Amino acid sequence: MGEIIPLDEKNAEELHELLVVSWADTYRGILPDSIINAASTVWHSAETLRRQMKSRVVLFAGYREDGRLLGMVRAAKVEDGIVRIFQLYVLPGNQRKGIGTKLMDYSVAYFPEATRFVLDVSVGNERGISFYEKYGFKFSGVSTLKIEKEEIQNLEGSLER
Ligand SMILES: CC(C)(COP(=O)(O)OP(=O)(O)OC[C@H]1O[C@@H](n2cnc3c(N)ncnc32)[C@H](O)[C@@H]1OP(=O)(O)O)[C@@H](O)C(=O)NCCC(=O)NCCS
Repeated sequence: MGEIIPLDEKNAEELHELLVVSWADTYRGILPDSIINAASTVWHSAETLRRQMKSRVVLFAGYREDGRLLGMVRAAKVEDGIVRIFQLYVLPGNQRKGIGTKLMDYSVAYFPEATRFVLDVSVGNERGISFYEKYGFKFSGVSTLKIEKEEIQNLEGSLER
């Protein structure tokens, strides 16, 4: 049986590995390669992750089974009563076994004072969209994120409780 564990700076390397593999699997064909490469080398470098993990207000949690990190979630309160799910990834090959649901349940329970959970998911990421819809998120608008020369379209999801 696996378990949900808090992730800290000691886990930065394995979290980096998980994000590189998951990003390539999720976004090839959806996002430009330049963005996927920037994610691997800059945004998800072990060094960047270690820096983010120093923050005490951000939830970084993982799902570990037989010693392997199979999934992760990063979430934080962004306004009174509102929590943003910044990232939720389950390693390819281990998806569709309930790990994503366990990580979301953990995040929702972690912020008992939150009345609303929000997130962005890339247009075209059908797996992510299906998962969040099943979880109860409603999608209302589309926002455009500009990263250097690229424009990324995201669906804005929210879940009330
Ligand atoms: C989205 C993601 C986190 C879901 O995690 P998971 O562990 O596979 O999800 P679960 O097993 O808990 O699935 C729960 C439900 O979500 C829906 N769902 C999950 N994956 C799906 C898929 N590929 N296609 C359609 N529906 C899906 C199903 O209704 C599923 O229930 P079921 O298996 O009983 O039919 C995982 O697929 C993933 O890491 N994807 C790539 C990254 C990503 O898109 N992250 C979200 C954007 S940041």
